[in-house]
Amino acid sequence: MYFGTAWYPEHWPETRWPEDVRMMREAGMNVCRIAEFAWSSLEPLEGEYEFDWLERAIALLADNGIAVVLGTPTAAPPAWLTHHHPDTLAIEPDGRPAQHGNRCHYSPTSPTYHKYVRRIVEHMARRFGQDPRVIGWQIDNEYNRIDYSENTHRQFQHYLKEQYGSIEALNAHWHTAYWSQTYTDFDEIPLPIGPHNPGLMLAFRRFITRVWKEFQQLQIASIRMYSRPEQWITHNFMGWFDGFDHYVLCEDLDLASWDWYVGTGHHDYTRTGAAHDLTRGFKRRNFWVMETQPGSVNWAPVNNVLYRGEARCMAWHAVAHGADALLYWQWRSAPGGQEQLHGSLIGADGRPRPFYQEACQIGAELARAAGVLRDTTPRNEVAFLNSYDARWALDAQRHHRDFDPVAHLLHYYRPFASRNIGVDIVHAEADLSGYRLVVAPALFVLSEATVAQLTRFVTEQKGTLVLTVRTGQKDVHNALFPVLQPGPLREIAGAEVEEFFALDEPVPVYGEWEASLEGQGRIWAERLRPLSERTQVIARFGLANGWLDNGPAITRHPVGTDGGQVVLVGTWLSEALQDALTRWLVQAAGVTPEPIEAPPGVEVLRRYTSDGCAVTFVINHNRQEASVVLPGTGQDVLTGETCAGTVILPGYGVRVLV
Ligand code: GAL
Repeated sequence: MYFGTAWYPEHWPETRWPEDVRMMREAGMNVCRIAEFAWSSLEPLEGEYEFDWLERAIALLADNGIAVVLGTPTAAPPAWLTHHHPDTLAIEPDGRPAQHGNRCHYSPTSPTYHKYVRRIVEHMARRFGQDPRVIGWQIDNEYNRIDYSENTHRQFQHYLKEQYGSIEALNAHWHTAYWSQTYTDFDEIPLPIGPHNPGLMLAFRRFITRVWKEFQQLQIASIRMYSRPEQWITHNFMGWFDGFDHYVLCEDLDLASWDWYVGTGHHDYTRTGAAHDLTRGFKRRNFWVMETQPGSVNWAPVNNVLYRGEARCMAWHAVAHGADALLYWQWRSAPGGQEQLHGSLIGADGRPRPFYQEACQIGAELARAAGVLRDTTPRNEVAFLNSYDARWALDAQRHHRDFDPVAHLLHYYRPFASRNIGVDIVHAEADLSGYRLVVAPALFVLSEATVAQLTRFVTEQKGTLVLTVRTGQKDVHNALFPVLQPGPLREIAGAEVEEFFALDEPVPVYGEWEASLEGQGRIWAERLRPLSERTQVIARFGLANGWLDNGPAITRHPVGTDGGQVVLVGTWLSEALQDALTRWLVQAAGVTPEPIEAPPGVEVLRRYTSDGCAVTFVINHNRQEASVVLPGTGQDVLTGETCAGTVILPGYGVRVLV
């Protein structure tokens, strides 16, 4: 279990460092990330490397029991580089070069930039690749920029040629006869700015993924030339950010990590849990929270401070979802620079800010629990599927302004989280062995691999599959399937979508599986048509727009004679109905219910050793006291107390039970 912070020793006189590191140690920190924006301090002039200061910072940290994660500094190229080599600057969609000094101003496709990146990273790896004090590397920082340079444009055309083989094939898949888009050569194809042909737009997103993959591979290769294999390599992702396909980038990384910020307002565990689960799903193993906010940020509309105790709750929530590390961003704000007012542990006066005390408590508690948490990980019976292709295609054709694919997934996630049923979020093509229930929200674009996995899941594994609205309308080229939704899943769904409706007003929906249930569908509705006699209608629309009236809203199809079942949900249900549907699904799929009775706002989750021993987290996310009823006896790792029966948790209270 690692606990630490991002520290920028290059901002401070070296005489100050020992005091900072002493306070880190006293807060229980055992890891520190450094150097990820330090290029101008590491190579102040072209070819002149100054690594001694970094070596001394690493030594000081190590002397205090603090391991180092080294960031490659490539998110912030120095002024000498961008000035002498303007082709390293990213080009904005309007054709202007990005301004120096706001970081991420580089072009990830520039061959000149690649040359300088390779050099600085190789130099760092040569110096620190064998260093046992450095446990891992973070490549760059939060990849995000899209470069619209001529060079990127040419590379895109080249990529398309490689993907499609012939211009005829591309024209056929993109249906370019439409609006005379037909291309006679790859070099006629534009870089999409704003809306464009759906095939082109989806291909561009995949190309951007390729750009980052290659940029990352270049750095990984530079590190691996000199590093010991024990040093792992990661990148700090940004939760639901969709600038590229995270699964593709994670193929080359040893560890997934993410930067977790609340911004304005407060932490909602039924939402942020999904971002942790998403990150855990990138490599299907535990992950790191590489950055999180100590109190407040500086970039949100209102930079409020988290309530006292809230960050501690958040820390345990992350651990319960599989985080093996938590690092606060940042230790102390630089006196200059764009982030002067961001939350930090140390104040402008060099002394601890109030939040430091809470960090000390978290550090001490994580250290106490580290032993029992070793080699433990969440293990769940429910999986949610995530597809970047589907998200990109949907976002480009929301058809209803509120059809946000992430909000749609979270709408399904929330009632599982509030029932304390743990969920894995995995790639839509992932192996689904071991799950009882799979929720596939809005798989607008469907690949053959996904269809095969889902079919296997319901036929061989006899699982329960939930398909939601907007599923199976497009092939992998973002063209409409020549059959109705859910396209190639119609057979296992036992139903198809006769018509879809973006809703300007909610429509009534009533459940046939729980007669008393009535609610609404909003945003989206689909008129379903059963395709088999075995298909059962479990909810219907009420009187609505004339087209939906009394039509099937949700169907259930038992697959084969003793197979699984597919539930097709034809609208975005109101909260109460969604909750009722979840309750029914959990039962119908035979998902094990959480044995600890907990009131709203109290999260109960587990991590398991490989031989099945559990560590149970009980986290009161409420500001008020709450109580839970334990079915047996447990020992609280944090306090040593033995707990049984009714256990009272104060506001933001946490129990870690074995
Ligand atoms: C992150 C970034 C950090 C810092 C932080 C401020 O996105 O990686 O360097 O800027 O935001 O909240």
